[in-house]
Amino acid sequence: MRALLLVALSGAAPAALLAQERVSSPDGRITVTANTDGEGVPYYEISRDGQVLIAPSQLGFLFTDADPMRRNFALSGVERGSADARWEQPWGERRFVTDRHNAMTVTFREKGGAQRSLAVQFRVFDDGVGFRYDFPENTNGGLVNIAEELTEFVVAPKGTAWWIQGGDWNRYEYLYQKTDIGSVSTAHTPITMRLDDGTHLSFHEAALVDYAGYWFKRFDGQRFRTHLSPSSRGPKVVRRGGFVTPWRAIRIADSAAGLVESDLELNLNEPNRLGDISSWFRPQKYIGIWWGMIRGDWTWAQGPRHGATTARAKQYIDFAARHGFAGVLIEGWNIGWDGNWFGNGREYSFTQPYPDFDLEQVAAYARSRGVQLVGHHETGGNIANYEKQLDDALALYDRLNVRVVKTGYVADAGGIIACNADAADPCRGEVFEWHDGQRQVQHHLRVVEAAARHRIAINPHEPVKDTGLRRTYPSWVAREGARGQEYNAWSRFGNGPDHDPTLVYTRMLAGPMDYTPGVLSLVGDRGMPFSSTLAKQLGLYLAIYSPIQMAADFIENLEAHPRELAFIKQVPADWEDSRLVAGEVGDYAIFARKDRNSADWYVGGVNDATRRDVTVQFAFLDPRRTYEATVFKDAPGATYENESRHTIAYETITLRAGDTRTFELAPGGGLAIRLTPERR
Ligand code: NOJ
Ligand code: CA
Repeated sequence: MRALLLVALSGAAPAALLAQERVSSPDGRITVTANTDGEGVPYYEISRDGQVLIAPSQLGFLFTDADPMRRNFALSGVERGSADARWEQPWGERRFVTDRHNAMTVTFREKGGAQRSLAVQFRVFDDGVGFRYDFPENTNGGLVNIAEELTEFVVAPKGTAWWIQGGDWNRYEYLYQKTDIGSVSTAHTPITMRLDDGTHLSFHEAALVDYAGYWFKRFDGQRFRTHLSPSSRGPKVVRRGGFVTPWRAIRIADSAAGLVESDLELNLNEPNRLGDISSWFRPQKYIGIWWGMIRGDWTWAQGPRHGATTARAKQYIDFAARHGFAGVLIEGWNIGWDGNWFGNGREYSFTQPYPDFDLEQVAAYARSRGVQLVGHHETGGNIANYEKQLDDALALYDRLNVRVVKTGYVADAGGIIACNADAADPCRGEVFEWHDGQRQVQHHLRVVEAAARHRIAINPHEPVKDTGLRRTYPSWVAREGARGQEYNAWSRFGNGPDHDPTLVYTRMLAGPMDYTPGVLSLVGDRGMPFSSTLAKQLGLYLAIYSPIQMAADFIENLEAHPRELAFIKQVPADWEDSRLVAGEVGDYAIFARKDRNSADWYVGGVNDATRRDVTVQFAFLDPRRTYEATVFKDAPGATYENESRHTIAYETITLRAGDTRTFELAPGGGLAIRLTPERR
């Protein structure tokens, strides 16, 4: 579908006349003001319905080799525009996205010295604000060495925040903290806030390309600042020529649903650069030789418990073929897993299989059964080793018709091993980088682009956070980037009952997550119990979106639950539309999603530790039809806290548009409903 885009630009206003400049959202509720203060510090302010949400907040930069851009500026120009467009996603939570915003670019000019200019582009939507800096070609003679970005976010009202710590050892894989806004320390984005009046905010970024990711750092009261992820080079960002920074994005909504349904970051990204990829990537479900290693029953390394054997691969391929799973992930097939690979990765070969894994035979077998292998490139965080082999590794998978590759960067934060950037080819010496530093941001895009040339989609684990780049690169299909289901294997109630209904309103605002749902046995290593009922494992397919959804359990455990397996086989990974029909941040989340390829609707989601009744209004159904609803719900009295977590109740009911039903969610529970129109 062709987007309808209307842009109107007015010319720059004469410098002397500028005092402050404003731009409002199309519905008029949100207003952004830009100006300089008495010391010539550029700032912006955001209000909604006349209430200040972001009090005057500074804009600026520090450099390692030039004067700061901080004081002594004056507003010198403004340009305005607007857009009203609708664009189509190749896959996703909804097919059509509306991009309606008003735009304003303000230029601040230094009053003395080099008279440098700092341009800031604002886009104001009904559901939030994006802004970014535009560095002209001639800044500092073409080379820009950014020591720090000084963008502030001064949150005016009081409220509650849900967040994970930024700049700490374990990248993004933490349980969320819930604190007062004023008690946040340094957080990753997206960070979610609920103000005391019920307004919901989320701070994140869009189009993180060739720049460092930022941490949301509090330094005083409710005053936060961008803290860029470090670099081995000194300057956190090094750029040449003219460039734009990533967008600083703030979602603003009346409710939790408004926050979840916003497409702000996608709208701030550039349109699809890869064209139609549907001949090689389609949303899908997959199984894998995986949970056995996560639980510790099997190993990635060679030995008597090696997971990736030819025989087991064929067994998993047979299961996938029998049950209609598109893909089979196989981890630990390649040389390099023996010994210490964590934060090391020096031994990995991305082309040589272990002796007990006949890659060619397995690939041929998969082809004969109409199943595709899902490839795996664990790097141990060593991108120096990976980049050397990247082209060969992708060519191999391409030849074997592998169309999705899961990558992995298992290393502590700050432990990415890269070639010295100033001597990249040949690689002279290793340097250490952060998972969200500029070097790793470059690496991820390089892998996605190289893979796309081989018609291969990418799903990174231990990734850089998602900033909506799937719009530009729709083969960047999912990521991990949070505590996934794997943590349920490693300790008792590993993720805790609150985790999933918190992810929905935090990590998931960034984009699809390869959470790996569908562990129907609900036990991890040495019998560790999950903080999940059986119904919650099904609800996860509706709560946590990804265009590639795993059924993560051992195939024997999937087969032991035929009714749940039937649901997993049916549930789509691509939606015409998605709405949050009930939920609050950190408490519960129930979605209604319409299949993109049929008239079916699905309703369901996840609950925290509180037993609750949730009323769903089926207002979204087609009023001309009657639906047969197959319900998977928590058994009466079930709780994640004891063996009753394994109990589930089934029901088949008839529903019509406008019907209302109440469902009881167990502690650690969930809900999953498939609604199919009855034949007329
Ligand atoms: C961590 C990933 O999250 C997990 O899925 C993978 O199996 C291991 N790394 C090994 O690559
Ligand atoms: Ca991980």
